[in-house]
Amino acid sequence: LTRQSFPPGFVFGTASSAYQVEGNALKYGRGPCIWDTFLLYPGITPDNSTANVTVDEYHRYMDDVDNMVRVGFDAYRFSISWSRIFPSGLGRINKDGVDYYHRLIDYMLAHNMTPYVVLYHYDLPQVLHDQYNGWLHTRIVRDFVRFADFCFKTYGHKVKNWFTINEPRMMANHGYGDGFFPPGRCTGCQFGGNSATEPYITAHNLLLSHAAAATQKGRIGILLDFVWYEPLTNKEEDHAAAHRAREFTLGWFLHPITYGHYPETMQNIVMQRLPNFTREQSEMVKGSADIIGINHYTTYYVSHYVNKTFMSYLNDWDVKISYERNGVPIGKQAYSNWLYVVPWGIYKAVMHVKEKYKDPIMFIGENGIDQPGNETLPGALYDSFRIEYFDQYLHEVKRAVDDGAKVTGYFAWSLLDNFEWRLGFTSKFGIVYVDRSTFTRYPKDSTHWFRKVIKTEV
Ligand code: FCB
Repeated sequence: LTRQSFPPGFVFGTASSAYQVEGNALKYGRGPCIWDTFLLYPGITPDNSTANVTVDEYHRYMDDVDNMVRVGFDAYRFSISWSRIFPSGLGRINKDGVDYYHRLIDYMLAHNMTPYVVLYHYDLPQVLHDQYNGWLHTRIVRDFVRFADFCFKTYGHKVKNWFTINEPRMMANHGYGDGFFPPGRCTGCQFGGNSATEPYITAHNLLLSHAAAATQKGRIGILLDFVWYEPLTNKEEDHAAAHRAREFTLGWFLHPITYGHYPETMQNIVMQRLPNFTREQSEMVKGSADIIGINHYTTYYVSHYVNKTFMSYLNDWDVKISYERNGVPIGKQAYSNWLYVVPWGIYKAVMHVKEKYKDPIMFIGENGIDQPGNETLPGALYDSFRIEYFDQYLHEVKRAVDDGAKVTGYFAWSLLDNFEWRLGFTSKFGIVYVDRSTFTRYPKDSTHWFRKVIKTEV
């Protein structure tokens, strides 16, 4: 497998997000986001870590870009921290924050590294949640557009690849369905909530925000998380279950973006709990993405299963997820208990997007693995498990490209070991190890593997 295995112009990169790598969360004028507040509660992460410092990319972005250049990557996908630009959500601009992204972008451009910029990656300014419940309120649409507009005006002459929101489904599900992410809301959660309605309201406002920002901009995309759901058996009901699982995850967003309304399957099940698009909104949402980023890591088996203990977004699916079939695991397990190595899943996921959503231009926005086992130095550098994952998944991406899918790029998650949300620093997705006492970066074997695959010798 080499760069030449892919069509000319195919983009290789790595992805990160502001909150996970920048550190300096409470410095240089940045205002708190909902993750800062959430992490004040003890026990949110297993190692009681926060992202106040993380891997300090704020100061070490040159090292990081240099590392990307050495490997031969073409692009870097990062996100802009809303509360670093507007510490109070709107209004006063924090010049330090604005300058930081100028420095990062300029350095990248000077080294031929193309910026792929995401406007929102889980990090809502806390004040907007305090003032009006953030994503639960339609006011967020106006505020998000103002933030987006500011970014387009400020960096638009340098940045050509814009993305509105990373994984809106994760926000809706974990923020408001099971309370796993801030603002930690769900039925029975300590912060209140209603898992039967709030995920749908949040998703609706996320879609409207995406679409409203997109109308301000020429070329723009969105990033959607998509687990591949494979029927556990050949029974009709398990096929229907797999279909529902895909509609309730990817279809929830990509169906409106392609067709202007929610999937029929969802409408029939969720009924009046599913918000409606006005005719005007529907027109705005339809066709609002010029490129679809698919964040894909893993595949699960699903079967038909009715759980009506209480009404919730997840129970609406009528699906049971399993990680094995007749005692055979679906794939090797990663460190994260949600991640199994199932390379053929990425092929099916991509072909599904191609076939069902009008053959869109897409790219793999994230793909990667936290290797199980001892992740300390020097052992962490010998990450053959990770190499095998990338090699197998990339082969499957190539197969999809060969079969006509318009996949224009591939982004590994992630360059660095970084703050992995609820897992803190216990989970390590990097192809570069970071010693967090010195912040020294140590490329792992997977870095060298990528270099061999993509470096074009001139
Ligand atoms: C994705 C997130 C990203 C990272 C990876 C492992 O869902 O977008 O921030 O946490 O998972």
